[in-house]
Amino acid sequence: MKLNVKAGDITKQDVDAIVINLFEGVSKPEGATKSVNESINDTITSLIESGEIRGKAGELTLIHTQDSIKPKRVLVAGLGPKEKFDQDVIRAISGSIVRFLNSKRIKTYATMLHGEGIGSIKPGIAARSIAEGTILGAYKFRTHKSEKVKQYIDQVTVLAVDDANIDSIQHGVDEGVTIATSVSLARDLVNQPANYMTPSDLVDIATEICDGTDLELQVLDESRMKQLKMGALLGVAKGSVVPPKMIIIKYSGDPKNLDNNIGLIGKGITFDSGGISIKPSGGMAAMKGDMAGAASVISAMKAIAALKPKINVTVIAAATENMPGGNAQKPGDVVVAMDGTTIEVDNTDAEGRLVLSDAVSYGVQLGLTRIVDVATLTGAIEIALGKVTTGAFSNNSELVNQVIKAGKEAGEKIWELPTFDEYRELYKSDIADLKNVGGRQAGSITGAMFIGEFAKEVAWVHLDIASTSTSPKTSGLLTRGATGIPVRTLIYLVLALSKG
Ligand code: BES
Ligand code: ZN
Ligand code: ZN
Repeated sequence: MKLNVKAGDITKQDVDAIVINLFEGVSKPEGATKSVNESINDTITSLIESGEIRGKAGELTLIHTQDSIKPKRVLVAGLGPKEKFDQDVIRAISGSIVRFLNSKRIKTYATMLHGEGIGSIKPGIAARSIAEGTILGAYKFRTHKSEKVKQYIDQVTVLAVDDANIDSIQHGVDEGVTIATSVSLARDLVNQPANYMTPSDLVDIATEICDGTDLELQVLDESRMKQLKMGALLGVAKGSVVPPKMIIIKYSGDPKNLDNNIGLIGKGITFDSGGISIKPSGGMAAMKGDMAGAASVISAMKAIAALKPKINVTVIAAATENMPGGNAQKPGDVVVAMDGTTIEVDNTDAEGRLVLSDAVSYGVQLGLTRIVDVATLTGAIEIALGKVTTGAFSNNSELVNQVIKAGKEAGEKIWELPTFDEYRELYKSDIADLKNVGGRQAGSITGAMFIGEFAKEVAWVHLDIASTSTSPKTSGLLTRGATGIPVRTLIYLVLALSKG
């Protein structure tokens, strides 16, 4: 599927369908919708009068033009109420549009620039949102189907009324394509079954991303991890026959200011059986996606390398399986983390915080001044926030607010939960410095704070994506399966930080 940008009269385009829009409650459309309505004998206004078209968010009405204009079809897309209109409405409707037209086996369509005319959204931003929504809405994981599901749409034109903003629209589409391509990559990695996505497979993906770019890749293998005394990560890896890998990717966008940096650290459990504290078999297959944090930080880096912001970014992905092999660590074992902290492993299924403790210590040692870790850490986060919102936890209000703001712009909802000192009592061990579970209370908070212990004085945010990294349904720009959350937030965050 190709996206291109053009200026011109929408009724004169040589495409299978044209897409126009309507806000809820509007009976006399303006702009492109008005001119299309006039050229097709007021069909749209008649449908509004009869109540068939109401402009509800997500409403799609297909009209056949019967040779009154060149395009054979007009699709009227409802944008909902004007007061609620923002870039995320554009993303969602763009996703619904591409799926709808694809189901009609249409090859080409031109869409007006949603949001043009209502001053609040700049043309470049609207164009970026259309590109993101269109590519992500069309996403399908087809790899293992013998009969490939066909993608009919091969060209989408974003149409401007005139040449005035054409450069910023083109720039917006290009940026949107780059971002959405990274999100699609993250979705692929998460959807991929664990027998195709081992730690070494993740290394291969990272290698492909870095090849031919300025990105610098480094992979720590098991023996190097032993030298570095990463006992917490190695303890998790012991139960599996596949070797763990720590993937480090560096982007130097501001080499003269080394402190202008951020670390993006991801949990990369390529399969979480629970280990000896084994999970129930029902639903265990979903644990192929326990590397969504690693997938998101690696994928975000692909876009960052292309967008070239003025900031230094280090990605660290801690990849291993969590398996109950004969050599697996046992509940009650004590491991020594890289920074010397002793940890009682009370439950081998709380492995994410163990691998992340060493990944975060490694990041601190590298001199990172800001750390955002991303992890499918706890089932409890779904109880707290449902499938709608990612949980944020932090030791630094400035950084967490920047992350939440980036999420808002990206259309990925994030909400902060507390990290009060009183919760620390819950994960103190009788026989070691810490234990890896905090009991029934505040499960997501104690998991997060455990990781935060290893960030020390460094500004740190933890994002728990256990509930938001997958979606049970297809809707808007989401498709059933992996969501690619929070790739867009990470990219928007890095772009915002690079601008000071
Ligand atoms: N990978 C899981 C968390 C998870 C649950 C991710 C559901 C995606 C969907 C994590 O490693 C885990 O097992 N956490 C335990 C922690 C508990 C033992 C303290 C959990 O949430 O039950
Ligand atoms: Zn687990
Ligand atoms: Zn896990």
